[in-house]
This record gives sequence, C-alpha cells and structure tokens, in this order.
Amino acid sequence: MKNILVTGGCGFIGSNFIRTILQERDDIHIINLDKLTYAGNPANLREFEFDPYYTFVKGDICNAELVDFIFYHYKIKYVINFAAESHVDRSILGSQIFYQTNVLGTNVLLEAARRYEVEKFLQVSTDEVYGSLGETGLFTEQTPLSPNSPYSSSKAGADLMALAFYHTYGLPVVITRCSNNYGPYQFPEKLIPLMTINALNNKKLPVYGDGLNVRDWIYVIDHNKAIELVFEKGKVGEVYNIGASQEMKNIDIVKLILKYLGKDESLIEYVKDRPGHDRRYAIDSTKIQTELGWKPQYKFEDAIKETIQWYINNKTWWQNIINGDYLKYYEEQYGQK
Ligand code: NAD
Ligand code: DAU
Repeated sequence: MKNILVTGGCGFIGSNFIRTILQERDDIHIINLDKLTYAGNPANLREFEFDPYYTFVKGDICNAELVDFIFYHYKIKYVINFAAESHVDRSILGSQIFYQTNVLGTNVLLEAARRYEVEKFLQVSTDEVYGSLGETGLFTEQTPLSPNSPYSSSKAGADLMALAFYHTYGLPVVITRCSNNYGPYQFPEKLIPLMTINALNNKKLPVYGDGLNVRDWIYVIDHNKAIELVFEKGKVGEVYNIGASQEMKNIDIVKLILKYLGKDESLIEYVKDRPGHDRRYAIDSTKIQTELGWKPQYKFEDAIKETIQWYINNKTWWQNIINGDYLKYYEEQYGQK
C-alpha cells in the first residue's frame, strides 16, 4: 500500500484525480491536504468521506509544522502537488497569495520531501509557464520559460525550484505541464463553466477582447491519466507536456455552448481584454506519448457535451457556489453582478 500525499485534492483537477484513483485502485491510500480556499469544495468528494483508502486533512501547504506532521504520521514517500491558486484573472487583481501558495507552499513541501526521503514528488504545472505563441508553433519541453501573468510566473518559479531540488539534493522530482482542462467540478470562474452557467441563467457571456485567443483543451480525466502514468513511470528530473491537440478560439467555445443549450448568440458581450492576455497556447505532447505510451482517450466533441450536460444536471453544486464571495468577485472582475 502506497501512502500518497495529494495536495489541493478538493479542487477541480485534484478531486477528479482522487475519484478515479479511489474507484480504480486498491493499492493506494490518499492523504488529501487542502486549505479549502474559495476553490476547494469538500462536496466534490463527499462519497469518499468514510472510504478507508482516503484521509482528508484541512490545512495549508505553507504550514511547515502541519506538513512535517503529515509526512511523519502517514510515513509519506510520495507526493502529488496540485494545490495552487489557479485563476489568472484573480492573480491580476491581487498577486501575493499566488506567490505565497504556489512558490512558498511548494517550497515547504519540497523541504519536507527532502527530509523524509520521498521516492517521487510530482509537481503539477501548466503550459502557461511557456508564455504565448503566435499563429503557428507548439510548446515543447525545450521551449524557454516566459510566463506573463502573476499566476504563470508563480508556477514557473515553483517548477524551477522543484528542478533545483532534483539537481542539488537528488530529490526525485517530475513535472507535468498541461494545457487547459475542462470537465465536471470546475469552479465557475473559468471559461467553460462560467459561460455555461451564465447562459443557463440568461446572463451575458463576457468574452475578453476580440474572442480570438486560442486555448488547447483537454478533458480532465485524460490529464489525470497522464499524471498517474508520469507518477508511476516518469523519469525523475524530467518535464512532461500534456495536451490533446484540441485548439479552439474562445468565441467558438462560447458559441458551441450556446448552441448546445439552445440559447441565442445575442447573450455574447465583448468586454475589456484581460491585461497581458496570452494569445495562443498549443502543446506538443510527443514526449509523453512516445516515452510513456500515453494517449488522450476522449474526443472533444463528446466530452464537451458531457461537461455541459454535467452542469445542467448538477445545478445544486454550482448554485451553492455562485453567491456571497463569488458575486463580490464577479462584480470586481466584470463590473456587474
Ligand atoms: P482549483 O483552483 O480548482 O483547485 C485548487 C485547490 O487547491 C483547491 O481545492 C484549494 O482549496 C487548494 N489550495 C489552494 N491553496 C492551498 C494551500 N495554500 N494549501 C492547501 N490547499 C490549497 O485548481 P485546478 O484547476 O484544479 O488546478 C490544480 C492544479 O493544476 C494547479 O496546480 C494548477 O496550476 C494546475 N493546472 C490547472 C489547469 C487547468 O486548466 N485548470 C491546467 C494545467 C495545470
Ligand atoms: O493553460 C492552462 C491554464 O488554463 C491553467 O494553468 C490555469 O490554471 C487555468 O485557469 C487556465 O488558464 P486560462 O487563463 O487559459 O483559463 P480561463 O478559463 O481563465 O480562460 C480561458 C480563455 O478564455 C482565456 O483566453 C481568457 C478567456 N476568457 C475567460 C473568462 C473567465 C474570457 O474571454 N472571458 C471570461 O470571462
């Protein structure tokens, strides 16, 4: 039995990861350390509350004492670090917490991993560390880091730190850099759930700039399968890009959502652009495909429909979110409730 410390497991990607592992494996005990920020939702994993293979600890990865206790108490030899402040727009409104959690928090985990001689430390990173592409080209693992937002610069800082711990101390670190995820349980500040929920509520759909920015989309389950594989078989000291080669212009995603929901395109509202808005992301995932044999399993056309349908079927989940603090954020970001 492997005791794995998973951080940030009550968020979007982490909770989907834990669900899959608990459903499919019986050789792993997950200890989920999550601070339960606005983005962390214990309801995402309610069905596993009494699962003997799952332990939840509410706490901050920046809390060195607590982290030390967890490594000691649960004899942690494996770590997957999902915990992060993850939203670019929020990092533009206020950057400090991004550097605190994403850089200093990762440092606390790496230091503990070193002390307790961890056998694998997987840092969940992002393609945003590579910056922005023009009309052509793809991010490879050799693309120089050139992050543009406080969020992406904090993630790049954590990547460099993790690699430094590998080079300096021999800590067995692996890094994954994935493109934009979509799927169930994504917090409705991100493009796809925000547009879906606004459309369901007949609210305006705020498209930044000209709507022609491009993102490369991957279904969250495909991302998590890649993480599991890199965790098991990835070579230490290496970086693996993850992506499903599904580039889409933002406006086309928004129109697709409206079409699926049978809503009118007059709901679209072009608004002020995101400052420093990266134009295009696109991932070359040849390395993980050829070296580890990973391949995305989900077709965008099907998985996006399933995702929209999930938000239709799970109204209570998001209705419990879009009140109070969410409305305050919405007003600050979009100038309206
Ligand atoms: P999310 O915002 O949905 O979830 C983040 C989780 O981390 C929440 O449960 C939150 O409570 C927890 N958390 C935040 N600060 C913490 C702290 N100090 N201590 C403990 N827990 C804390 O994020 P997500 O979209 O699930 O992203 C997870 C990871 O994947 C992040 O590291 C992100 O950078 C990376 N990533 C995300 C995407 C994407 O498209 N969403 C793509 C590539 C990489
Ligand atoms: O590429 C991976 C990254 O993808 C992750 O590292 C981040 O954690 C994740 O948040 C995501 O970042 P993006 O900034 O690409 O995602 P977001 O959903 O915020 O925006 C996607 C695109 O949609 C982007 O070009 C901005 C645009 N957008 C977004 C929102 C929220 C709009 O036009 N209007 C909006 O209201």
